[in-house]
Amino acid sequence: MSEILGLGYLGVETQQSAAWESFATKLLGLELADRRENGTLVFRLDDYAYRFAVEPGPSEDVAYVGWEVADDAALIALEERLRRNDVAVVVEGDAVARMRRVRRVISFNDPDGTRHEAFSGPLLQPQKPFVSPRSIGDFVTGDQGFGHIVLTTKNMERQQQFFCDVLGFRLSDYIGSPDSERSFVFMHCSPRHHSIALARLPSPKRLAHLMIQTADSDDVGLTYDLAQQLGYPIAATLGRHTNDRMFSFYVKTPSNWDIEFGADPLLIDEPTWHVRQYDVPSVWGHVRSAPART
Ligand code: FE2
Repeated sequence: MSEILGLGYLGVETQQSAAWESFATKLLGLELADRRENGTLVFRLDDYAYRFAVEPGPSEDVAYVGWEVADDAALIALEERLRRNDVAVVVEGDAVARMRRVRRVISFNDPDGTRHEAFSGPLLQPQKPFVSPRSIGDFVTGDQGFGHIVLTTKNMERQQQFFCDVLGFRLSDYIGSPDSERSFVFMHCSPRHHSIALARLPSPKRLAHLMIQTADSDDVGLTYDLAQQLGYPIAATLGRHTNDRMFSFYVKTPSNWDIEFGADPLLIDEPTWHVRQYDVPSVWGHVRSAPART
């Protein structure tokens, strides 16, 4: 049983804020919600005030991953389980909570050292409906959260144990065998097939990709065309994944990790779900046009 309901927000570091602003707004169709004095750009794609933050920093990689829980009691239960498993937890003060536009937030690191946060009480602003700067339909969030992320690791077993046994994610499935050069473990906490996956990949970055999902699959195709018109490198062509059945393509971000832009995946029905494995990531497509990272 996990207190975690889904991916709430993601923070990334970059030294290329201007490139990120036009990538996020003109291509992805995210709304710039806040431009802060320290240079942080905050983007939204639904009623949540805080979904994606691009912050000044050296790494061109993930800065923190924000997980939503239902309420303060769930946050305390998660904090206690982390401590019982000897994970150092910081109960963050009002300053961090205000930055993240939530009521309460705790932080901790996974075994690879990536910073995670869990929060209760996110700020929703239905009085300011999400308006995309480009012509695009709704994004799929709600009880499935912001989207999914894939983190690379050299310690697959230790990371998987942390996410499943400590944080309470449930296994969805596997792609690739543990002894192959590229292998993946997928985990869920909601009907979304995975909110996080771990990848054994030859990559210098911790963040392999962030997936955002549109309600209309035509928006995936239109965004694919637009990426090419705007000159953004396609990391993988249109395709459909074997495990979550996502119809998607991958585009390289200004930080050289990928955004997966997708639609039309299957949903997990928890009582009937059972764990399976796949030997390849895609039914068709997803042809990589650059050195593989996801
Ligand atoms: Fe993905």
